[in-house]
Amino acid sequence: MRDAYIVQSVRIPGCKNTRGQYRETRPEDLLAFIMKACVERVGLDPEEIDDVMCGCAFPEGEQGLNIARIASQMAGFPDSVSGATINRFCASGLEAIAMSALRIQAGWADVTLGAGLESMTYVPMGGYAPRPHPEFSLERPETYIAMGLTAENVAERYGISREACDAFAVRSVAKAQRAQEAGYFTEIVPMLAYRFVEGADGIFTKESFLVEKDEGVRAGTTVAGIAHLNSPFKAGGVVTAANSSQTTDGAAATLMASKETCQRLGLKPLARLVTYAVSGCKPDEMGVGPTYAIPKALQKAGLTVEDIDVIELNEAFASQALHCIEVLGLDESKVNLTGGAIALGHPLGCTGAKLTATLIANLWRTGGRYGIVSMCIGGGMGACAIFERVDSV
Ligand SMILES: CC(C)(COP(=O)(O)OP(=O)(O)OC[C@H]1O[C@@H](n2cnc3c(N)ncnc32)[C@H](O)[C@@H]1OP(=O)(O)O)[C@@H](O)C(=O)NCCC(=O)NCCS
Repeated sequence: MRDAYIVQSVRIPGCKNTRGQYRETRPEDLLAFIMKACVERVGLDPEEIDDVMCGCAFPEGEQGLNIARIASQMAGFPDSVSGATINRFCASGLEAIAMSALRIQAGWADVTLGAGLESMTYVPMGGYAPRPHPEFSLERPETYIAMGLTAENVAERYGISREACDAFAVRSVAKAQRAQEAGYFTEIVPMLAYRFVEGADGIFTKESFLVEKDEGVRAGTTVAGIAHLNSPFKAGGVVTAANSSQTTDGAAATLMASKETCQRLGLKPLARLVTYAVSGCKPDEMGVGPTYAIPKALQKAGLTVEDIDVIELNEAFASQALHCIEVLGLDESKVNLTGGAIALGHPLGCTGAKLTATLIANLWRTGGRYGIVSMCIGGGMGACAIFERVDSV
């Protein structure tokens, strides 16, 4: 198989759902903006793009139809650039990158764009009209279980305490705060968002403004400051608003090319996709997914956890992230160097693409060689992609 080289990987800042700065900016605009920015950053003629794949966990409403194709057209890409929308819930963005890479690896394409999008403002988690199967939902209710309850199950079954969850959450916020102060988020492209402002005459006008940083980071979060919060999922539970991922709006994009195309167009590679693995697990403890997917990917790559320098492990919930770190024997000093979803947000279908951009920035900043992006997935799954930082083809 050929190699798929990543030549650009970027994201917009994450903003809180419903009351955040993207509350009046439609999801198509978020995605089209970052796709266009991704291509412009390397000076690529969009004519060269064979296909766009975009992950989205709830592809309906404003982010429905075939958002990959719509955003491609909105980004000004020519009609020849095709598009497909991919859904693997929280791994959708990573799946889109993996499938886009695979097209290059198979020789079916030379340049592809893998992206991720979720506006949790415009489309709520679960979608507008979920309709579980009437008989199957009685037979296997856990197939449709609320994500917060799965996190409570992980905490209870594997002995993850409230104190450990809160301490992990505080560490995540502290890392994100430090990264913002130090200017580590080089993968961010400031988003030109918009809002509608009412004039004195009662007429609303559209006003653009720049969003430059992730708005979910609650600087100065302490264990004492979050100890009073109760679990919204279970009486006496350990999962709270402070140790869960935030529900967020986001978009991210990764541009990939074959070796020959990099050479022909003078594109500088940043990384290559080494391998990608997915695995199923029990739906009612979906948070353990990475404990299956990470070893599977490592085995395929002929690597061990010791070979990995940077790990972006999605913090869907502190309880499941802590369990995965423990079971896999991960060195926490390599995990989520610039904070995780507890601090920065988890825009579902965007997350895999967002974490890929962050991973590549962190690999380059630290000089690491191998990096992992992994997450648990609703319905009971885990996904893991391994990337290698490279500077030439
Ligand atoms: C847990 C959850 C229900 C909380 O939702 P929410 O109530 O909207 O959460 P908020 O971030 O608004 O926090 C609520 C309150 O908790 C408190 N709080 C949260 N984080 C805090 C922190 N770090 N420090 C202090 N207080 C905090 C605040 O009082 C906050 O209210 P405020 O924002 O008005 O100050 C929601 O974040 C959630 O469902 N997360 C998981 C999403 C999910 O399942 N994703 C898929 C995973 S597979």
